[in-house]
Amino acid sequence: MTGPGPLANRRSQTSEDIGRLRQAEIFIKGLAGRKPRVSTNGELLEQQAHRVMTREGFAYVAGGAGTERTLRANRAAFDRWAIVPRMLCDVSRRDLSVTLFGRTLQTPVLLAPVGVLEMVHPEADRAVARVAAAERVPMIFSSQASVPMEECAAVMGDSPRWFQLYWGTSDELMRSFVGRAEACGCEAIVLTADTTRLGWRVRDMDLGFSPFLQGRGIAQYTSDPVFRASLSEPMDAAASVGPGRINLALLRVVAQMYRRHPGSFREKLRFGTPRRAVQRFITSYSRPWLNWTDLARLRAATRLPIVIKGIQHPDDARLALEYGADGIIVSNHGGRQVDGAIGSLAALPDVVATVKGRVPVLFDSGIRGGADIFKALALGATAVCIGRPYAYGLAIAGQEGVREVIRNFCAELDLSAGLVGCATLRDINRECLAPSVILPG
Ligand code: FNR
Repeated sequence: MTGPGPLANRRSQTSEDIGRLRQAEIFIKGLAGRKPRVSTNGELLEQQAHRVMTREGFAYVAGGAGTERTLRANRAAFDRWAIVPRMLCDVSRRDLSVTLFGRTLQTPVLLAPVGVLEMVHPEADRAVARVAAAERVPMIFSSQASVPMEECAAVMGDSPRWFQLYWGTSDELMRSFVGRAEACGCEAIVLTADTTRLGWRVRDMDLGFSPFLQGRGIAQYTSDPVFRASLSEPMDAAASVGPGRINLALLRVVAQMYRRHPGSFREKLRFGTPRRAVQRFITSYSRPWLNWTDLARLRAATRLPIVIKGIQHPDDARLALEYGADGIIVSNHGGRQVDGAIGSLAALPDVVATVKGRVPVLFDSGIRGGADIFKALALGATAVCIGRPYAYGLAIAGQEGVREVIRNFCAELDLSAGLVGCATLRDINRECLAPSVILPG
């Protein structure tokens, strides 16, 4: 907390003042009758997006595993902590910058890897990359992206980006992904550990819908030389099981799959590459036998920092350090993997206590505004990742929507920090919080 001091020494100087400026921008536009297209209330974004998204797209993004108790637990975990503001601290100058792996960020916020953004908007990852670069917020490219990482990197200049890896059955493909990530300027590799299998996603199953079976969200694979070379190898028999009788719906899906796949139409028709790509992806994208000793091979494949995403247990944090991880993301994949799991924020303090500042501890799952970011930072997160909210922004207003969400979240964080009496990240600590009394009902 910034202590009181003689006023003469504390001339009111604002640094970036992003909170107040953003607020002013919104109110001034309001004078001309222009209201924000994207709600400034992060909890309302889902409803807004629901109105404009397809049934399948919304189910895919909003859904969680099973009865979605983990989704709810992620939000409830934030309600268990209350912020306790301090007064008269001179917060006229605020600096919420953080340095991660040698890169200084103005605000401790990154964009979480979110796959299959083509279900949200035709510009998908490309739109997100443009905004991330303009706002200087690191984007974590997903292994399940709809646009190859090189295309996104090409619109980002020298702005920071990381690559999220799903480590499938092929080490050669893992090395190829990681090599491409290095070549296109990614500054860290995020190994997602919580998705050795897809969770029990009931909303998708009730619609009988998987984007991957339609050839969506596999652009990192279809653009990869190692993956493409593997398409001429024989397929597993299990991959050839078809959906039975051919009907109009199936023909439409197959036609779209062929259109989406890169390459000349003649080649695609002759070799059936789009269908083979989906089959190859389905049988090879996951690696249930992934274990801590595998990290050495990833380490040997890259000079970039390795961040393990999906940590919820303090013993796993200990193991991550033991096996050489350079960072951790406390995350439960937005409640999409295990139903009835611990709310991610509830897992954060024990992980932070275990790590003891030796590596950065990032946090995601359940953040719906700047005040939530404040709580995660106060519980010891080094930085946070925003997930669904920016995807909803993309659905509601395309590129502009992503920008609004990022600006609103950062602005609310800045305002909250100031109002609570915190001028720097060091001031945002456990002292700013008290356990909240949750009333039944
Ligand atoms: C994800 N997430 C994710 N994580 C990852 O490591 N690789 C991926 O490809 C994806 N894809 C993905 C798609 C969609 C539609 C969602 C909603 C999430 C998880 C993501 O990175 C992050 O952990 C969560 O989004 C955090 O939860 P909230 O805050 O979005 O609820």
